[in-house]
Parts: sequence; C-alpha cells; structure tokens
Amino acid sequence: MKIEPSLKMSIFEPAIFGDLKAAAEAKKATGAEVVDLSLGSPDLPPDEKVRQALSEQSALATTYGYTLSGTKRFNEAVANYYQRRSGVTLNPDTEIIQTMGSQEGLVHLPFALCNEGDIVLTTNPAYVAYDAGIKLAGAVPYYMPLRAENGFLPNLDDIPEDIARKAKLLILNLPGNPVPALPDATFFDKVVAFAKEYNVPVLHDAAYSEYYFTGDSPSSFLSTPGAMEVGMEINSLSKSFSLAGARIAYIVGNAEMISIIRQLKSNLDYGIFGPIQEAAATALDHAEEITDRLRKEFSQRHKVLMNGLAEIGWSVTPSNGGMFVWAKYPFELDDKEFVFKAIEQCGVVMVPGSIFGTEGAGFVRLALVQKVEELEKAVAQLSTLDM
Ligand SMILES: Cc1ncc(COP(=O)(O)O)c(C=O)c1O
Repeated sequence: MKIEPSLKMSIFEPAIFGDLKAAAEAKKATGAEVVDLSLGSPDLPPDEKVRQALSEQSALATTYGYTLSGTKRFNEAVANYYQRRSGVTLNPDTEIIQTMGSQEGLVHLPFALCNEGDIVLTTNPAYVAYDAGIKLAGAVPYYMPLRAENGFLPNLDDIPEDIARKAKLLILNLPGNPVPALPDATFFDKVVAFAKEYNVPVLHDAAYSEYYFTGDSPSSFLSTPGAMEVGMEINSLSKSFSLAGARIAYIVGNAEMISIIRQLKSNLDYGIFGPIQEAAATALDHAEEITDRLRKEFSQRHKVLMNGLAEIGWSVTPSNGGMFVWAKYPFELDDKEFVFKAIEQCGVVMVPGSIFGTEGAGFVRLALVQKVEELEKAVAQLSTLDM
C-alpha cells in the first residue's frame, strides 16, 4: 500500500524537541551533567488538595460519563476566579467554554472565526500553535515583529490599513512564550480601540498570567473597558497549577464568539473527564495560595538565571514575569547550530529562537523549569562555552 500524507501535512515541520532530547541523551551517555531548560513543562507538583480531589472523584462510579461542554462546577470556579483576580464578571453558562488544554483551543479557534485566505494578526516570534491553527484553517498569518526597540510588544500602528481591514483575528500573548514581555496599562486600551475600528476579534493567550515577579499581577485583557465586546482570553491550568498532563483550559469572553466555538467543539469532542474538571475547579478555588507558592519559587529562579546570564555577557531581554528567559548569546552563530553545540560542549539544553519565527534568530529560550541550584549550574556550564 502506498501511504502519502495529505497536502495539508506540508504545513507541519517536525518539532525540534526530539532532536534536542537525542542530543541531550548522547551527552548524558558520556557521563556529563545535563541541565535541560528546553520544555516549558512545570516541574512543581500540583497542590495536594488538587490531587486529592482527582483521586476522590475518580474513585466514584458515577463520574465516567461524557461531560459535553463542561460541568457547571468548573465553569463557576472559572467565573469566581476571574471575579476575584481581575474584577471581571463572567456568565458561567454563556461566556466560558472549556478546552482540552489551551493548545487544543488555539489550534481550533481560527477554524471557528476565519475563512480560507483570511488574515490573522499574530506576532513574530510566537508560540508555535498559533501558526498551526491559522494554517489548518486555511487562513494567512500577518506577523507583527516583537523587537527590543518596542519593548518586545507588537506595534499595532505599524499594521498597514488594508491588512487591518482584512484581518479576522488578532492573537496576543502577554507575558508571552517565548518572549516574556508585559504591557503597560494603556496597551490593551489600544488593542480594544484597534479591534473596534477594524472589526477584528481579539484572542489573548494568558497562559502565564500567574507568573509575575514584581509589582501587580498582569491585567486580564477582559478587564479592559470594551474588551468583552471584542474578544476573549484563553487560559490554562497547565502552567499556573502544574496540571499540564491533565489537559484542561478554558476560553472566556464575548458570548457570541464563545457560542461559535461551542458549536464547533460539540462536533469535535465530548468534554473533559469529570474528575479532572473537579480537580481543576479545586485549584481555581485555591488559586491565590497555590500561585503565591509558585511565584516565590519562580521569582528566585528568574533572578538567578537573568542575573547569571547577564554576568557571563549574554544580552538578556528584561522581564518581570513569564516562565522563560529570552536571551541573545554572545557568539556569531546560527541559533540552531548554537544550541546543539552548547549541548555538546556544556550539557545545557535550550531552544533556538528561530523556531518561534524569523525575529527569534540569534536568540535562545531558556525555561525556568529547574531548581535554583540547577540554574546556577547551567550558568556555570554556559560560561565555559567557546565558539
Ligand atoms: C503561550 C502558550 N499557550 C498555550 C500553551 C499550551 O498549553 P496547554 O495546552 O498545556 O494548555 C503553551 C504551552 O507551552 C504556551 O506556551
């Protein structure tokens, strides 16, 4: 039998993580110490109350049915969390929809709002799932560069008028992956004004909203006046509550947009396992306590890695939040070549910036997913590089 991938499969390139892992294993096999800062999968365990809720609920005989578009308990926990954290009032029945991790929501969302050939405004660099969703929907990305001179924020004023008029979706991610930039108070006001002027729905990916280390928590996009009219926020339990493997997230915001997504999803899946929803609701009920602990640990890590890299001559993008450090290494070398050489020479595993877009060339992303001592070790190992 001759098996051929569909034409659409040509939009997907093999992910680099497998190659990074193989290079790291080869280095380990030589007896060297390897510090892996590549994947953004949280290393802290979920809170005990959350694990207990999952275990109690899954022991019941009655929790194994389809949950369809989500349980009332989960949606109410999301609404309460938004009210407490951001002062945003959400209707649990009409303004919240759960997704099987935010990746699933992100990949399917452009399908719900865009036709073939429509333009989606997204950043360069950006989290790779945005491009996957845009291209699967047959839409066309228009990339807004994230550059140092603009504080690594997209500049909406630079979008040509004809592109803005044709756009059917604007995707933002602050603090972001891979660039952990945070906007000032006026940025989302500009986004709402832009969305209204050009009739462009907005999706803010708030996956790292609980990762802030100084000052106030990053604002929810939905707390901006007018935001509920123009957009949505997608957030995940993966990062803030260490539930990456449980695959639970949600989209909140404009009821009409949510209803379109609900219709799409009712044809794609039958909902998330009930006990996972209960565990996630428990996490949201205790969000303040759980995320305070997370911030204490990650702010230490953030400080150690940011300062350590700066001390050895790397140019580190300033940030007060996020789960990653975005940095320029002090060598004239292509970033893909650099990360493999770095594994070989010193056993530190990083992600080349260019996999997130052309603007990432010359940068690397380092995830704060190891304890402080490991990060100190990583800096010491990186200081020995010679290229
Ligand atoms: C910005 C951003 N959004 C979404 C996700 C997807 O997370 P999940 O599907 O686990 O919710 C990630 C994962 O790394 C991410 O970095």
